[in-house]
Amino acid sequence: MAKITVIGSASIDLVVEAKRRPAIGETIMGESFKTVPGGKGANQAVAAARLGADVTMIGCIGDDAFGEQILSNLKANGVNTEYMEQIQQMESGTAHITLAEGDNSIIVVKGANQFVLPSLVEKALPILRKSQMVLIQQEIPEETVEYVSEICSTYSIPLLLNPAPARPVSKKVLQQAAYLTPNESEAAVLFGEAGISEAFKQYPNKLLVTEGSNGVRFYNGSEEIVVPGYKVEVVDTTGAGDTFNAGFAVAMSEGMRLEESIRFANRAASLSVTKFGAQGGMPIREEVEKKL
Ligand code: RIB
Repeated sequence: MAKITVIGSASIDLVVEAKRRPAIGETIMGESFKTVPGGKGANQAVAAARLGADVTMIGCIGDDAFGEQILSNLKANGVNTEYMEQIQQMESGTAHITLAEGDNSIIVVKGANQFVLPSLVEKALPILRKSQMVLIQQEIPEETVEYVSEICSTYSIPLLLNPAPARPVSKKVLQQAAYLTPNESEAAVLFGEAGISEAFKQYPNKLLVTEGSNGVRFYNGSEEIVVPGYKVEVVDTTGAGDTFNAGFAVAMSEGMRLEESIRFANRAASLSVTKFGAQGGMPIREEVEKKL
């Protein structure tokens, strides 16, 4: 069983469905409103657990009802929550999502996620050191990403940095990470529009740019390869990137080769968009294998 540790945000998604987005100053009527578990860290933890990994999540919740909901959802999905810390007098992280015109737009309020600090990760060092892969994203403080990157490099633990949401990342972290998985706009923030093809050459078999339903692009040392996505009926794209990251981490940790791992992760991500909610469509292992 692949041992994976996820360090990141755990939030509740407040999702409004509407026919279109309102213009500035305009009020429109929506179609529905739902609250579902989300947060890039928790999404990746749940996706990896459903795909059969032994997952530990390091993160923070507030002392509110959302916090309880986040925790019980992680537990229900078999994620080890020993290093989930409750922050007193603080609200849990929330993501305010509008689903309209076939895509989402999201405002994240960090809440307790801002307390996912190096000191919390330090407590979990024994479990971190036993991990076959560590996953981290950017809804938590930058200093934590830098600290984890240093730790993983010191102990030779493969680190997958999903640089989402976009913010600049130090050259040191880019070099220390084993895998970088930006989407196209995040890659532009990291390397500049013009710098992406150069970055592929600099990070062969490591920089994996996700291009939505088009698939995933990487450089194999001699040419750029696109591993195509799968065509499916899309209900909600929220969490597709998280499912990809989790699927890739699980497959690589189990010893699949790079391209095979991307294909496995693409399949998992394509299934995830066929249902509502970031975690609603995240597949279990058998569903992915059936289609592969
Ligand atoms: O990646 C999708 C996630 O991003 C959502 O679940 C939401 O919480 C936002 O943080």
